Order: sequence, then structure tokens, then C-alpha cells
Amino acid sequence: MQGLFISFEGIDGAGKSTHIDAVRVAFEASGAPVTLTREPGGTPLAERLRTMVLNDSMDAMTEALLVFAARRDHLQQVILPALAQGHVVLCDRFSDASFAYQGGGRGFDWGILETLEKWVQSTEAQAAPGVRASLVKPDLTIWFDLPPAVAAQRLSHARVPDKFESQPQVFFENVAQGYARRAAADATRFARVHADQTQDAVRANVLAVLRQRGYIPE
Ligand code: TYD
Repeated sequence: MQGLFISFEGIDGAGKSTHIDAVRVAFEASGAPVTLTREPGGTPLAERLRTMVLNDSMDAMTEALLVFAARRDHLQQVILPALAQGHVVLCDRFSDASFAYQGGGRGFDWGILETLEKWVQSTEAQAAPGVRASLVKPDLTIWFDLPPAVAAQRLSHARVPDKFESQPQVFFENVAQGYARRAAADATRFARVHADQTQDAVRANVLAVLRQRGYIPE
């Protein structure tokens, strides 16, 4: 059995959490088993790393190494086993966030991130002898695209901001550019949803993407 891997991305304030839940409901209604998870996090170890990444100040390389270490554990413990059981894995952020935040936002070396991605997401360790290792990537990435100025406005009303949420708007402009670069390089994987609409409209767009791809019934 082969599962389905969907990630959800966007700058802070883009409102992805509510919509991930709507996607979960839609898959469950169609009878599919769903694993709902998030990054950084998703395992006890990765959740501890999340707390550090979101609260402690550190340089960009340390941040990149920690998010990819968390991702490795998450893949091994949760994502790959769930996919092997035929689950629909819904992941609140995945590697594109490392390219957007550490690469775009922090200006960390894109090439090193690509190397980390190859190391961490290679199936080499799982591949049978003679079977070529491949890179585990989402089948679909829903990108909630929101102008950074609108996000800043939304975040100003939010709860106590974490380390990233308290960054200035220019940081999020760079993060958004990071997402745009990833989307341009992998256009078939990415579905861009304009997040500057009512919640109902955004949800309708997200469900339409899933229907178009044949993931949920009409
Ligand atoms: P987020 O997903 O927005 O969760 P919440 O809704 O609880 O705020 O928070 C995760 C933060 O971590 C977000 O600001 C982006 C950041 N992040 C990275 O910097 N690199 C990564 O690789 C990932 C997965 C997230």
C-alpha cells in the first residue's frame, strides 16, 4: 500500500491550521486513514527540538541542522511508517519551510539546505539491495500565499509571538520569496492558494485542489 503525503506551507499568519483540519475531515469522510502531524515536531524528540528552535536564539546553521534533525526523526518514526500503511499524511510544514525560513528569511546557504534535504530525506536506509534510493517529498504541497503586509497586520492581533512571529515584515518578505523559489522549481507539486480571502473561500479553494487531483471524491 502506498499512502499520500501532503504538506501545508505559508508565512506565519497565513491561516493554514484551520484549513488543515478541514482537509483532515474531508479525507476521513472519504474513508481514508489520516495521520495528522507537524514540523518541527511530530515525535517526542522532534517536539523538544521544536521548543529550542522556536524559543532559543541561535545562528542560521544551527537552526537548519536542528530542523533537519527533527525532520529525520519524524520521517523515521512517523511519516514513513504511516505512508507504508497507506495513510494520508497531512503535515503542517515540511522541508519547504526550511528553505523559506532558514534559506529565505535567514539568508542561509541554499546549496547546504539541498544537501541536508538529500541526506535526511533519502530512502537509502530503507531501500532493498539493488533498489535505487529516492528522495521522500510530499506528493502535494498546499502553499497559502499571503502578502507579508497582510500577515503582519494579522499577527499584530495574535497571541504572544514566538521567535519567528516577532520578526519584522522584511523577514517575511524574504520567507515568501523562499517559498516562491521552491514553488517555481517544483511547480507540479505545489498548489498555490491565495490566502488573502475569506476563510470560506480559502477552504473551498483547498478542497477544489484535492478534488482536481482525484484525492477526494467530487
Ligand atoms: P507554525 O507552523 O506557524 O506553528 P504555530 O501555528 O504553532 O505557530 O510554527 C512553526 C515555526 O517554525 C514557523 O515560524 C516556521 C518555523 N520553521 C522553520 O523556521 N524551519 C522549518 O524547517 C520549519 C518546519 C518551521
